[in-house]
Amino acid sequence: MLNNKHIILGITGGIAAYKSAELARLLIKKGARVTVVMTDGAKEFITPLTFSALTNQPVYDDLWTSRSADSSSIAHINLTREADAMLIAPCTANVTAKIANGLADDLLTNLALARDPANCPLAIAPAMNVQMWRNPATQRNIAQLRNDGVMVFDPASGEQACGEIGEGRMLEPADLVDALERLFVPQNLTGKKVIITAGPTFEAIDPVRGITNRSSGKMGYALAHAAACAGAEVLLISGPTALPTPFGVTRINVESAQQMLDTCLHHTADVFIAVAAVADWRVTEIATQKIKKQNDADVPTLSFTQNPDILHTIAQQSNPPYCVGFAAETENLAEYGQTKRRKKGIPLLIANNGPATFGADDNEVLLLDDAGEHALPRMSKSQLAHQLISEIAKRLSS
Ligand code: C5P
Repeated sequence: MLNNKHIILGITGGIAAYKSAELARLLIKKGARVTVVMTDGAKEFITPLTFSALTNQPVYDDLWTSRSADSSSIAHINLTREADAMLIAPCTANVTAKIANGLADDLLTNLALARDPANCPLAIAPAMNVQMWRNPATQRNIAQLRNDGVMVFDPASGEQACGEIGEGRMLEPADLVDALERLFVPQNLTGKKVIITAGPTFEAIDPVRGITNRSSGKMGYALAHAAACAGAEVLLISGPTALPTPFGVTRINVESAQQMLDTCLHHTADVFIAVAAVADWRVTEIATQKIKKQNDADVPTLSFTQNPDILHTIAQQSNPPYCVGFAAETENLAEYGQTKRRKKGIPLLIANNGPATFGADDNEVLLLDDAGEHALPRMSKSQLAHQLISEIAKRLSS
């Protein structure tokens, strides 16, 4: 979503300005072009040189000097004309107040005011002392900005530079990068609740051993991120993975298939997407103590019980959510997939080549529904997730 996007990164005078260096770097890593604009206050905390070195672009900080590349251009108009979005991070209480009230007394506030909101949406990441954040004046300004169509990435709670504890900390750079994608995604799941299962399950044998599989969880996590970007309230029910929780997603960790099912049944949703690679069997009797190794010839025998089919169980509820399943096949994707879709009783199934996708960063899938099959080209799991979410939103609204 951020690849080839031109982002104006505004930096104001807060201690969190040091985090913006990492933010600039992460945006560039995502393929974005970043132009930094600093206020005088920001330069008290971090130097323009840091950002020009990181972005390989000049840093702008003055309303009155023209741009060296084009001496006739007016920076406060032209910079945002060329940009796809503007993010102010950190955004101080002072700059929040100025933008909310249309004040423009430096380059950054002029840019915010002179922008065409349709072509260059604005997001801010407030960062300030907890009392400044809670002050009714600040809250009024934040509400005004939201009303004006500015996206506000609410600060997190925690220990502050001033020693106080409370909300006001700027979001971490990785979360801001996740959150910024929302500016480029149609908000077609606003007001919808989405549950996604992801990752492998772990079926215990005894307190130290278990059976699991190679699912990385990448596809499920990418879908959770994409659904949150599209405005949904997302609950991610995840087996053991090493992945970070996408920004704005609530995550519940589970281990076994039974725990995953119980957790799914505890929550309601408009859409249920089953991505987890659920173990088909579990050990019938989990040993309460570690099974001890005996002599060489004496190996334990395990007996197995079939696990519940989570997707089928949810799809059979009296008023089920819109259910989406995945199928990993090695041949006859369309035929085997349609048979599986009907057996599970679900409207949409996404079929892919199992061995070619496990752990990979990209994927190629076939969408199967009552209308037939629809192939999507190979793309990264993150691009695919956005595409699948828009396909699901389309079917949900029809
Ligand atoms: O039956 P199979 O494992 O091939 O089906 C795959 C689909 O069903 C996936 O969407 C998977 O998340 C879901 N599933 C489930 N519970 C199971 C087995 C699979 O939800 N026990």
